[in-house]
Amino acid sequence: MFNSKFSRPKIVSVGAGNVGATFAQYCAEMELGDVLLLDIVEGLPQGKALDLMQAGVVREYSVSIKGSNDFADMKDADVIVISAGFPRKPGMSRLDLLEKNGKIIANICDYIKRFAPEAIVIVITNPLDIMVQLAFHLLNHPPAKIMGMAGCLDSARMCSFIAEELGISQKQVNAMVLGSHGDLMVPVPEYTTVAGISVKEFISAERLEQIVDRTRKGGAEIVSLLKTGSAYYAPAASSARMVQAILKDEKALLPCAVYTQGEYGISGVFVGLPCILGAKGVEKIVEIPFSDENKIALMKSVEEVKQGIQSLKELGFAVS
Ligand code: LAC
Repeated sequence: MFNSKFSRPKIVSVGAGNVGATFAQYCAEMELGDVLLLDIVEGLPQGKALDLMQAGVVREYSVSIKGSNDFADMKDADVIVISAGFPRKPGMSRLDLLEKNGKIIANICDYIKRFAPEAIVIVITNPLDIMVQLAFHLLNHPPAKIMGMAGCLDSARMCSFIAEELGISQKQVNAMVLGSHGDLMVPVPEYTTVAGISVKEFISAERLEQIVDRTRKGGAEIVSLLKTGSAYYAPAASSARMVQAILKDEKALLPCAVYTQGEYGISGVFVGLPCILGAKGVEKIVEIPFSDENKIALMKSVEEVKQGIQSLKELGFAVS
């Protein structure tokens, strides 16, 4: 009878597994736009979309959530978030997923080129820094319009551990974790604050080092507890946070895996750095002074990403 036409942003979640569906849920709860869940498994995105729509009656969100197996439906997407791929199992490193997930990313990029070449793309699939590099080369996207999600997640983990340590609200902790999304990520205590006060005022250097170490292994800690897969609530929440910054043109300073063009002396590789996210995507990479120790750690992280890219090349993928 009404047949209304809505003009809301279109968010496409490629992958309707735990991360993709939870991401859709958070986007709906935040009313960021209409969400399309895409997956190759028949019925899965449709079933989860129906369930999420029905939850929305009770949760009081009024966006649309649909599911599809037809990748042509990604047409007119404003933002595409890719979580499709295999998760880690206990004992696996993120790099162990390189070949299998590389093929999945390559397939998805073909669809994006055909059906939604203008969309801003966020990659979550692991090994994240390398998968985003692959997508960048396959899509030939401008660097502003493609990024990886990891810094927000790793920073959230560090915030949570600090809040638990101090017995205070998680909301008052602000942490910064840069570098690769791997064992060589770079948590930066210098830029970590509690209600604006340096965390170093509250936690000893020794204890902070233990928290930094737990942050680096934060993903693996959850993998070993779950046994059959990896974390999804915090990865999904972190991705929704990035989409919010983009669709609301927030100009939010967030750590994301971004394509470097000389910033911090790094070029041609995706790595986690602080950046401004807004309507155009990565609007600026922000350069902040770093201690020598952090510079060295960041360079090691970059080397880790470069080695991953090299391994991907050796597997026959078109990436540079
Ligand atoms: C993690 C996976 C998603 O860090 O990389 O939990």
